[in-house]
Amino acid sequence: MAAGKGTRMKSKLPKVLHRLAGRALVHHVLDMAVALGARSAVLITGHGADAVEAACGPATGVAAGLAMNLVRQEPQLGTGHAVQQTVPVLPDDGLVLVLSGDVPLTQVQTLRALVDLCAGDSLALLTVDLPDPSGYGRVLRMGDSAEAPVQCIVEHKDASPAQRAVREIYSGIMAVPAPLLKTWLARLDNHNAQKEYYLTDIVKFAVADGVPVRAHKITDAVQVAGVNSPLQLAELERAFQLRLATTLMEQGVRIADPARFDVRGSLACGQDVAIDVNCIFEGLVSLGDDVSIGANCVIANATIANGAVIHPFTHIDGEKAGVTVGEGALVGPFARLRPGAVLGPQVHIGNFVEVKNSTLARGAKANHLAYLGDATVGERVNYGAGSITANYDGALKHRTVIGADVHVGSNCVLVAPVTIGAGGTVGGGSTITRDTPPGALSVARGRQIAIAGWKRPKK
Ligand code: UD1
Ligand code: CA
Repeated sequence: MAAGKGTRMKSKLPKVLHRLAGRALVHHVLDMAVALGARSAVLITGHGADAVEAACGPATGVAAGLAMNLVRQEPQLGTGHAVQQTVPVLPDDGLVLVLSGDVPLTQVQTLRALVDLCAGDSLALLTVDLPDPSGYGRVLRMGDSAEAPVQCIVEHKDASPAQRAVREIYSGIMAVPAPLLKTWLARLDNHNAQKEYYLTDIVKFAVADGVPVRAHKITDAVQVAGVNSPLQLAELERAFQLRLATTLMEQGVRIADPARFDVRGSLACGQDVAIDVNCIFEGLVSLGDDVSIGANCVIANATIANGAVIHPFTHIDGEKAGVTVGEGALVGPFARLRPGAVLGPQVHIGNFVEVKNSTLARGAKANHLAYLGDATVGERVNYGAGSITANYDGALKHRTVIGADVHVGSNCVLVAPVTIGAGGTVGGGSTITRDTPPGALSVARGRQIAIAGWKRPKK
């Protein structure tokens, strides 16, 4: 269900497209369906339907392996009305799991337990006790015992004071056999305080039809918490990150402060990895053994090999092409690695150095204030402060090849396409426009002159 407005987000973006851990809320929910091995998913859209459908349609590749049906609910007349819209595309067999597009943190094993409880012949409800159940549908039982059979769900606005005292609430998540769901949906009405078609009314139909209603009560309220406001979004983001940080720390990763750690994608870590505070990992990131990440780094789509050290304030974004940092390499502080940066073992990239679509072989160094774009850099090259590859002529990009053991002085411009011969030296301040011979000193700059006894102008 993803038709609701999300008024309290006060945003132009439909609520279910807001991101948690870098992924839209509704995508987290579709991920659950994929993990459960569902045959198909039906997404009910309404408010912002165009945007939600564009983000979830088959062409997007989300929910791979799941047949995706999109249905619209316009206007929104309640959760029962929402699910009624799915009837034309629901199969006549199997089981329907109702999920909310704004409840992103339900664990797959919880849903599996709910599906098992439904067992194809009963109605299974996911419930939880809340200290403050205000606003939620209350689960009413046929006796005082917490295990007594469920009688019905009464919505907060329809509930008597005694019913409101019940702390067990319906989470909004249920598992129900498809054929039964269809017959019950046909019987819903909107004779209630909100004049809405309540999906929760099917509980009393089940009881009347002699179909068992089973509640799966969990203790971890985060799993059924919805996002209605920026504050709740931030709270669930922290809960998600803490869960992930805990898992990594259990594997031995040393996270300086799990409250200042964010993964927006997937992070794989080897042994003896240490991560200082305020780091963000996005997309697919893999850190080898003994990798150390300094404070305040943003690292996206990168593979960092054993023993590499990323000093503070480094920004790495491999986007589609990826970034590779070799064994024992040193990067930063304040370095920037862009797509296609491939650093070999023991490479050093220092402060304010930008590397894009360039390969640096073992032991090459660019330690200060430099740019390497579309370059192939040989082993042990020393690339001086302030030097750049001029890789773009305004229309096309060209390559710079720097042979092994070259020493490029400071403040050089290597105008691509150009090759610096192995073992050569480029004098500081040179603008190199032609290939240089191996082993030579190449200098291309105004010759220094001295005018003896020069008198400065006077006033
Ligand atoms: C519903 C349940 C309530 C439960 C609560 C848990 C009903 C009648 N009540 O409350 O028992 O405790 O969820 O959060 O089902 N939606 C639509 N179309 C609509 C209305 C809602 O798609 O016409 C979607 C919303 O976008 C949201 C979900 O359904 O994803 C739940 O809607 P919400 O209004 O938050 O729940 P309630 O109906 O108040
Ligand atoms: Ca409502």
